[in-house]
Amino acid sequence: MSSVPQTGVVKVGFVGCGGIVQGAHAPNLVQLPNVKLVACADVDRARVSEFLEKYKLNFYSDYREMLSKENPDAVIIATPNALHAPVAIDALENGAHVLTEKPMAISLEDAVKMVETARRRQRILMVGHQMRFLRSTQIGRKFVMNGRLGRIYHIRVLILRRRGIPSTVTFLQRKYSGGGPMWDIGVHTIDATMFMVNFPRPVSAIGKVYSAFSDKTYMRMDYPVPITSQFAYTAPMDVEDFAMGLVRFEDGLTMYIEATWATYINEDRHEVAIIGTEGGLHYSGNSISYIHSVDEEYVTSTPMIGQQQSAYALEDKAFIDAIVKGGAKAPYPACTGEQGLLTTAIIEAIYKSAETGREVSVNIPQWVYESMGW
Ligand SMILES: NC(=O)c1ccc[n+]([C@@H]2O[C@H](COP(=O)([O-])OP(=O)(O)OC[C@H]3O[C@@H](n4cnc5c(N)ncnc54)[C@H](O)[C@@H]3O)[C@@H](O)[C@H]2O)c1
Repeated sequence: MSSVPQTGVVKVGFVGCGGIVQGAHAPNLVQLPNVKLVACADVDRARVSEFLEKYKLNFYSDYREMLSKENPDAVIIATPNALHAPVAIDALENGAHVLTEKPMAISLEDAVKMVETARRRQRILMVGHQMRFLRSTQIGRKFVMNGRLGRIYHIRVLILRRRGIPSTVTFLQRKYSGGGPMWDIGVHTIDATMFMVNFPRPVSAIGKVYSAFSDKTYMRMDYPVPITSQFAYTAPMDVEDFAMGLVRFEDGLTMYIEATWATYINEDRHEVAIIGTEGGLHYSGNSISYIHSVDEEYVTSTPMIGQQQSAYALEDKAFIDAIVKGGAKAPYPACTGEQGLLTTAIIEAIYKSAETGREVSVNIPQWVYESMGW
């Protein structure tokens, strides 16, 4: 089966049609002339009824039926995290290109299966790490690739919410989410960092997680007015609210990561420090600074970002454009399956270390590295 639709119009189906699909993917995709939104698979019809009506979508309570009946060219997966891998594999086997939300999977084993399936079926497997589409992230990568930092030896990643525990059960329970803030928000910042520093090879990790606020509803992000009436504040939480990890890479590079949903600090923080022998980068999502020496003086330079289009919209457009052009790999700067796999492996090792109290090796198959680029 050709991977390029003969009509030139890409038929898109959604699996999991909650917040991120209704708030970002669907409104972005409907703007594109070469897209037809055809169907939505979700287990909760009542929750998506307005969405179905708005976009005139066929509804399926079983995504497998959607795949076989609609034969979509592209599938956007935005279910709870634990389902990304099985749905992606089924969609790829059915001949669809896949854009899966982050995290791509909650185990390295599943991520490997996803990448193997995409390669065998010659379909795009792209992971929804939209921070790659920020100008700041691309400027950071450019400075690293052009050698402006010298030899990078340490990275510090902080993504810290003070009172930001989600309320939805699918984020609060391991069987759906895989874990707490490291899988939810840490994953984005680790991916953006790996992209900026050009995917060093992780060797091992140690990690620790803490649950200080599982029963404290006043630490939920929507306190005191719950946004999800169905589960608000009643669903038991069995994932942590604070996770940290220290990762070793080849060539002696280290990366410290801290991700929290709730913690007593004086402000929310989102920052990455990339530290090299000739300069450093300070990144906080939408902005970036380059710190270096000029004539023995310590200087901080702040590149002009200019106009920034919506990163989500750029991501959706890149996915569709690549399909129309007949690509079989996520296009630059999007996160390919192989690249997403690295971040999955790092986070899995952090959690395994937290469980065992030991340093955990990260063992990524060699073939993954051989097809890392775009
Ligand atoms: N890239 C980003 O910035 C970003 C932002 C938000 C969420 N996300 C990711 O998107 C995914 C969804 O998050 P959300 O906030 O939209 O969650 P959500 O709870 O609003 O939506 C999830 C939907 O999946 C449906 N679902 C559950 N089981 C299903 C199944 N077996 N088959 C089909 N549908 C099923 C639910 O009924 C719900 O409608 C998560 O993995 C999350 O990490 C990414």
